[in-house]
Amino acid sequence: MLVTITINGEVVSRDVEPRTLLVHFIRDTPGLTGTHWGCDTSNCGACVVLMDGQPLKSCTALAAMCMGHEIRTVESLEVDGVLDPLQQGFHECHALHCGFCTPGMLMTTRALLDANPDPTEQEIRTAISGAICRCTGYKNIVAAVRWAAEHQEAPR
Ligand code: FES
Ligand code: FES
Repeated sequence: MLVTITINGEVVSRDVEPRTLLVHFIRDTPGLTGTHWGCDTSNCGACVVLMDGQPLKSCTALAAMCMGHEIRTVESLEVDGVLDPLQQGFHECHALHCGFCTPGMLMTTRALLDANPDPTEQEIRTAISGAICRCTGYKNIVAAVRWAAEHQEAPR
């Protein structure tokens, strides 16, 4: 079937099997392999993207279900060489080791900061409770989100 989805403001149209998951539709689009595919069982959160501004585990949705919606992936965070404050915060606070969870963490916390620009540590921990990181122990991720909250001028 022909599936058409707006991803990062660009209309992407492709003939795919009806069973195609959103994560595969995204990753099969040239230049959009930043969204990671980890567990495929909706546990790890590495595949999180934003659908109409809300976090969505892209391994849990069929691509066909996303027609008519705006999808935003990790590639949209950096604009003209300027990092999103969250990306900068992850860098400043050393909030990643292997980096596998990072795209999902960034998109999950982007949605958090868009809705709540000044979250508490507990609110951050609740927001990322659906995302697993095997490396960092989460402490530096929480610090990075606080760093971003303190350095962002406006929601992006
Ligand atoms: S790949 Fe989607 S939650 Fe793990
Ligand atoms: S940095 Fe390795 S899983 Fe999070």
